[in-house]
Amino acid sequence: MQFPQVEMNIFETILARRSVRSYLPQEVTRKTILSLLEAAVRAPTAMHEEPCAFVIIQNREMLRNLSDRAKPLFIEQARRSAHNVEDISNADFNLFYDAGTLIIICAKSTGPFVEADCWLAAENLMLAACAMNLGTCVIGTALPAMKIPEVKPALGIPDQFEAVVPLILGWPRGETTPTSRKAPHILNTIACLAT
Ligand SMILES: Cc1cc2nc3c(=O)[nH]c(=O)nc-3n(C[C@H](O)[C@H](O)[C@H](O)COP(=O)(O)O)c2cc1C
Repeated sequence: MQFPQVEMNIFETILARRSVRSYLPQEVTRKTILSLLEAAVRAPTAMHEEPCAFVIIQNREMLRNLSDRAKPLFIEQARRSAHNVEDISNADFNLFYDAGTLIIICAKSTGPFVEADCWLAAENLMLAACAMNLGTCVIGTALPAMKIPEVKPALGIPDQFEAVVPLILGWPRGETTPTSRKAPHILNTIACLAT
């Protein structure tokens, strides 16, 4: 597989990545998605198990229905942990922010590290997307709905797989303000760090 040429180096890409929540209607092509999946599968994988598998949904009506199905489940879960769900409760709110593409990274439900593998694959995918000027956002709020037994086959997730990382993908509409981060919290340095 030939990867696309990009202008940003890895540090620039890490700094440029943000969770994008507003998208243009233009679809992302199959070729681009395949390049991103190639980047995803290059992530570290515990015991070289390579458990990740991908579902790609580019049907906006299906995404809207999935959002409607996922919202009450997430609201219920969030209320129990006293989280604010005001935005999500709004009937017009689409959990997928009207993005044209949802990628669900799934894993075969065995092994202690399969979820870690999926999250590492997700970060590779999101950084590669950012380097290609595409936007992404993890949509954890949609996850409970993807585990419902009758929803799984509708999404094309076979029985022996579980959804681990739902993320949206698309061409960003405008700029997304960067979020801040705390400085690295170093608990201890046992050995002397070379300068
Ligand atoms: C596990 C996980 C679940 C997330 N779920 C959602 C979500 O459901 N909806 C959303 O808008 N953002 C979601 N996010 C994105 C975070 O809100 C975002 O990463 C954080 O605010 C920092 O912003 P940044 O990614 O732009 O740096 C999620 C991120 C992670 C890691």
